[in-house]
Amino acid sequence: MAASLQLNFKPFKPQFTHSISAPNKFSTRIRCSAATPSKSYTVTLLPGDGIGPEVISVARNALQLIASIEGIEFKFKEMPMGGAALDLTGVPLPEETLSAAKDSDAVLLGAIGGYKWDNNEKHLKPETGLLQLREGLKVFANLRPATVLSQLVDASTLKREVAEGVDLMVVRELTGGIYFGKPRGFGTNENGQEIGFNTEVYATYEVVLLTKVYLTTGCEPLVFLTVNLLSQIDRIARVAFETARKRRGKLCSVDKANVLEASMLWRKRVMEIASEYPDVELSHMYVDNAAMQLVRNPKQFDTIVTNNIFGDILSDEASMITGSIGMLPSASLGESGPGLFEPIHGSAPDIAGQDKANPLATLLSAAMLLKYGLGEEKAAQRIEAAVLNTLDRGYRTGDIYSAGLKLVGCKEMGEEVLKSIDSKVTAIA
Ligand code: IPM
Ligand code: MG
Repeated sequence: MAASLQLNFKPFKPQFTHSISAPNKFSTRIRCSAATPSKSYTVTLLPGDGIGPEVISVARNALQLIASIEGIEFKFKEMPMGGAALDLTGVPLPEETLSAAKDSDAVLLGAIGGYKWDNNEKHLKPETGLLQLREGLKVFANLRPATVLSQLVDASTLKREVAEGVDLMVVRELTGGIYFGKPRGFGTNENGQEIGFNTEVYATYEVVLLTKVYLTTGCEPLVFLTVNLLSQIDRIARVAFETARKRRGKLCSVDKANVLEASMLWRKRVMEIASEYPDVELSHMYVDNAAMQLVRNPKQFDTIVTNNIFGDILSDEASMITGSIGMLPSASLGESGPGLFEPIHGSAPDIAGQDKANPLATLLSAAMLLKYGLGEEKAAQRIEAAVLNTLDRGYRTGDIYSAGLKLVGCKEMGEEVLKSIDSKVTAIA
């Protein structure tokens, strides 16, 4: 009997540890170094709302240039999603968008949401479309790295000595917990008062699939059983332990096990799974304390694993340590199928269409797409190196600007990153 638990997961190790010291002289732009692409990938682009289309357009150009250098081909399919889809089709995630996403090799999302749809009923909110997409793609593991780049230490709201050197990863459970738990809804209580309610629930259920394969040998049939174990907590815990193992070997599980039953079970399972990873140092922290420790001494953290809602909150908090939420990428991965890659920022309707957005989080999400979604490590490295090089050359969008540097808009930042990609063609060869 074979117990198989496929974990098609390639843990993230940020590439920011190398620093690019001197800006390179630009070589002429090399657009076509490989005549016939050897590999072709379909990438679904979901620009979405607000600043989404602006940042996706920058990432698309970068991917196109990388493809011409690396001898790969991207077939982009742009599909409506979020508010844009609501206006066009009446739903936030049209079936065509979900099936295009499922049929592709990877999905890159800009951002969704905006004032216009804020008061819509729940099933007609752009955010509901995003949750449907995550559920539809079964991407349960959301990796949100927060790395303070040496170039941006002064953009952090924390003191230099607190922020400098922070390099942590939030592993957020993405398709369970209170976001999806039932019962949920609106109703009235015994006093006739209106109520809204949700359920924080995590299961250690095991779905056991028995596949019987009969091989006729002439005598007795041979029976093979394949057992697939699926546990909501176990699988995210394993992803987190694997991630920590590839980083600095420290995992902090964040919960609220002093109050919530769902957290008590979470902690019990994480402790159980820990026995498979004796090389990883596991600690537990209540979420209120974790929120405090993140601003008190963020360097104590290496990898954090937590549930859907705590991960949502803590990753926004962690992003501010790095200087701007406009810098942080994310990867959402399942056991198989295409991953979903998106900046962790929202659609920023206040600056939409004004060419003010920071496209770096989306570019870094495109790098994660190349690395984890497609296994194109070198191409990913090109984007990461180009982002660092552009920062080294002093270019900043408004959110990360400080005096004496070059303030640019979204488009120009994108152009400068393209120049850096070009200039580094031979350096990364
Ligand atoms: C995020 C966002 C989403 C979430 C919203 C837009 C549904 O805040 O990706 O962090 O809550 O997961
Ligand atoms: Mg969030």
